[in-house]
Amino acid sequence: MDPRRLGPGARGGPRARIELALHTALTAPSPGNCQPWRWFAGGEVIELYRDPARTSAGADPDGQATALACGAGLGALRVALRALGLAEQTALLPGGHPDLLARVAVGGRASPLPEEQWLYQAAPKRRTFRAVMAHGPLSRALSKRLGAMVDGTGAELHVVEDMARKQAIGAAVEAAIAGEPPVRAAARAAAGEAGVSFEGPDGAEARGPAIADGAPAFVVVTTAADEPAEWLRAGQALMRVLLRARVDHAWGSFLHLPLTEAAGRKQLASLVGATGHAQALARLGGAADSPPTPRRPLSEVLLTQRPS
Ligand SMILES: Cc1cc2nc3c(=O)[nH]c(=O)nc-3n(C[C@H](O)[C@H](O)[C@H](O)COP(=O)(O)O)c2cc1C
Repeated sequence: MDPRRLGPGARGGPRARIELALHTALTAPSPGNCQPWRWFAGGEVIELYRDPARTSAGADPDGQATALACGAGLGALRVALRALGLAEQTALLPGGHPDLLARVAVGGRASPLPEEQWLYQAAPKRRTFRAVMAHGPLSRALSKRLGAMVDGTGAELHVVEDMARKQAIGAAVEAAIAGEPPVRAAARAAAGEAGVSFEGPDGAEARGPAIADGAPAFVVVTTAADEPAEWLRAGQALMRVLLRARVDHAWGSFLHLPLTEAAGRKQLASLVGATGHAQALARLGGAADSPPTPRRPLSEVLLTQRPS
């Protein structure tokens, strides 16, 4: 693909392209749009830090959702670097600072595949879609393409279209809403988010059978273990899946409540026949474009020096 089609800056030097990739990282989804990340870029090293000021122990007791969102940002960054022709090597949790989640060393040229450039171009167009979706199964070809997105990430993807399994997932979401501690429900309400991120046909939050009925498919990202490095891997996998879906005009919305605690992550994995731990749950289906949710500008999340 002609690099000019990737937008202004795509033919610039590494610094300009790293900046474009950082802008792409900011398109990642996060609970309540909290954007719990900070970035540092020094020379050809990029570091991702969690932002403790933007996380809530009430809503995210073990930090899984924060790490998942930061992992999604990391996934978007890496997609962009490659699409812009920059090779990179990423170390998760390299140590040295309690909030340091990943260090990305940029160096050398990458020869991106057309699909990697499509993913990059899809990033600013991805949105959480909250209205009623067009029904009908995902095409087998799309399911296969989504599955390929997690190859090499260390995570697994499960696409659930069978009604009995969708209903079991809907019931797990309902149980999580019913059992939600008041402090968590209050944190979510303060962020303006419903437990089910999408509406039923009546325009109200989808509840009960409407959860399964409103989801053409659920996608579940699982990992073998349930620890911070795996949460970061799952976030990257999730982002790649959402971007590939967007290339094919499919949209996602999240149902994270059942995954807030370790027991729920284990239970949801078993509902999809996986042995590990579910880290992300989203519905996926056909929809139309919707307005973007604003992000903090890069200047606000880019550190001028490493945190002490
Ligand atoms: C881990 C995670 C959990 C989320 N949980 C919810 C939720 O419970 N309800 C909801 O409406 N949206 C939820 N979202 C979606 C966010 O609100 C959304 O990503 C954010 O507002 C940015 O909008 P965008 O995804 O359209 O860019 C979640 C997103 C993530 C990554």
